[in-house]
Amino acid sequence: MDKFIIDGGRRLSGSIRAQSAKNSVLPLLAASVLTEKQVTIREVPEIADVSCMAQILRELGAGVRFRGGDVTIDSSNASCHEISSSLTKELRSSVFMLGSLLTRFRRAEIAYPGGCDIGLRPIDLHLSALRRLGVEIGESDGRICCKCDVLRGAEIALDFPSVGATENIMLAAVKAEGRTTLQGAAKEPEIVDLQNFLNAMGAKVRGAGTDLIEIEGVTALRGVTYLPIKDRIEAGTYLIACAICGGETEVVGVEAENIRLLLHKLRENGCKIHTKNDKIRIESSGRLKCNRRIETMPFPGFPTDLQAQATALNSGAEGGALIVENLFETRYKYVPELRKMGADIEVKGRNAFVRGVPRLHGASLVAGDLRGGAALVLAALGAEGTSEVLDLSHVDRGYADLQGKLKSLGARIRRVRV
Ligand code: EPZ
Repeated sequence: MDKFIIDGGRRLSGSIRAQSAKNSVLPLLAASVLTEKQVTIREVPEIADVSCMAQILRELGAGVRFRGGDVTIDSSNASCHEISSSLTKELRSSVFMLGSLLTRFRRAEIAYPGGCDIGLRPIDLHLSALRRLGVEIGESDGRICCKCDVLRGAEIALDFPSVGATENIMLAAVKAEGRTTLQGAAKEPEIVDLQNFLNAMGAKVRGAGTDLIEIEGVTALRGVTYLPIKDRIEAGTYLIACAICGGETEVVGVEAENIRLLLHKLRENGCKIHTKNDKIRIESSGRLKCNRRIETMPFPGFPTDLQAQATALNSGAEGGALIVENLFETRYKYVPELRKMGADIEVKGRNAFVRGVPRLHGASLVAGDLRGGAALVLAALGAEGTSEVLDLSHVDRGYADLQGKLKSLGARIRRVRV
């Protein structure tokens, strides 16, 4: 196991380029098995979740080759429709493989992806939508077995704009017989990216980015070479890092519109934000005011994937903040670790009441999940003294070369083997 050793208190300045979006690349990899033709996804980030997804595709019999930052998938010989329990547990979001396996093989079998470190993560919306498309779904000893003779277009309405369920439905409907309408769809930029990817393969999908997506089933899908959008959550993480530490940092590659609410909150903290095309520049004195309230909501609301990082920022700012986590039940597991640094945070259910302290101090911290781990790194960068952050397997899931990018901005951070 590795850990970071971080000497806090250094300002961050410079420019970094955002990686391709983890939460876009993963569904695009799932979509690659929709066709037997070759698919290349450009500039994939070197992160553990991508490696895990590649392993899942190889288990299905697909050839997966990483070269020069791109990944090429040849699933012409893929014949298996089952995903092992270990890989489903390792990568919960592989549940959207159900849609692409059903389209390719009319069969799909995965382990029930149980809850995880941020919540129960049920998949009821996925399964009820697949049933609407004609899929028979059974469960036996913790595995979900899906099959259908024909996927038939249907009118589907989601009670909640689930990102994964929206993606699963798109993957299951692209070659279904007839038309599918999805009311109440998730509107995240990654959904729009999946639509663009599928249409580049010859699908007929429209409406992504709104709450009504319409899909005309087609009979064949061609191979494609595709460059995904950049990672708005990674970009937001670095912008918050600079806000906490003080300095001037530019993040390149992400549309400001895709993290508009974060930028609004950073201005509320007292930061200056300048945006031009796909460049976002932040200037921070490092002495911040708390946000009175941050409430996570589905896009375009404040992203739940930046909640922990924003709480870390407010912990060392002036005043008080109410953080409300509306999407996941237990996304505050990082709070006890921040308290070790002197943070004054009280968690009650979905609410975290933050009272800003003048400065956090260094401590020995243990990451418990991907974004909570990122929050601990950010808090350590702004703290007085030295911190260590253990169990980097979590941040390795979603941040390519985190220490390299932070070092390039002036952070004093080392990765050492424990
Ligand atoms: C995606 O997860 C992202 N992951 C998550 O990012 C992100 O936090 C989440 O969307 C919300 O934006 C990927 O894209 C790979 P959901 P997903 O289905 O699809 C409930 C990160 O850090 N729900 O939109 O699993 C669910 O319990 C990760 O990069 C049901 O009740 O999220 C949750 O409360 C973490 N039934 C809420 O909806 C269902 O069938 C949002 O879940 C499905 C979901």
